[in-house]
Amino acid sequence: MTLEAGSKAQPTIGVFDSGFGGLTVLRALMRRLPRARFAFIGDTARLPYGSKSRRTIARYAAQSAQFLVREQGADYLVIACNTASALALDAIQESVPVPVLGVIEPGASAAHAASTSRDVAVIATDATVQSHAYAAACQAHGLRAIEKACPLLVPLVEEGWTDHEVTAEVIRIYLEELKAEAAAQGLKPDTLVLGCTHYPLLRPLLERAVAADGIRVIDSAESTADAAVRLVNGHGGAVFQASGLTGETKIRCFATDSVEKFERLGSRFLGRPVGKVELIDLGG
Ligand code: DGL
Repeated sequence: MTLEAGSKAQPTIGVFDSGFGGLTVLRALMRRLPRARFAFIGDTARLPYGSKSRRTIARYAAQSAQFLVREQGADYLVIACNTASALALDAIQESVPVPVLGVIEPGASAAHAASTSRDVAVIATDATVQSHAYAAACQAHGLRAIEKACPLLVPLVEEGWTDHEVTAEVIRIYLEELKAEAAAQGLKPDTLVLGCTHYPLLRPLLERAVAADGIRVIDSAESTADAAVRLVNGHGGAVFQASGLTGETKIRCFATDSVEKFERLGSRFLGRPVGKVELIDLGG
């Protein structure tokens, strides 16, 4: 792990997701670190990661991490993908010589801050749920977690159906099942963790679906961005934050496929135009 990043006035932060859902994390990072340079990859050619094996996810994620560090000079990496964070954080850390931050621990930490019943529900991809990474991270915070795979939600978001009646109905069914499973285990979740970086785009529908139960919805984007600031500060980045540099936040976005779709839908996730997205080939 290099500590040289701390001496740079303007470090580069590499952000990676299997698609463009991770732009919700980039958005939170940009708000806190407006003078940083950002390089973002959406591995759209190989999405979804959520239905793949640990070995494949680790290989794909390491290739993106190496591109961000070797080709884009990233000084820090933020894995803005729950599936890659849950199954491949160690593999990514071993593949690059820079500090790497995932989204699972910040998500569990946010759940800890939000829950009073100490029972939380997590919705995520199949692979994330099967890894039980959230259950373990929540347990470390003294929380009991029930995890529910919602595999239909990522394609609905990728389709842009973020406010569609079909999506609302799919959410209703998943949450009914989740509530029944929680009741069967004697759990009373008061917090719903969005354990997939695509899900913040469904937040209005999800909040509507759980409002009557008084369940609070949280996503890890904000707490991940807070953790990234601490990471940068821990390596001397306080100088960088306090340096008073002027200029626009610089972002370069890369995708492994579907560049036009990324440009069209990405702005919804980022909250501003993503600009020109560059096509890259990370190999097989
Ligand atoms: N963005 C991924 C995550 O946070 C979900 C998409 C996928 O399955 O690749 O888990």
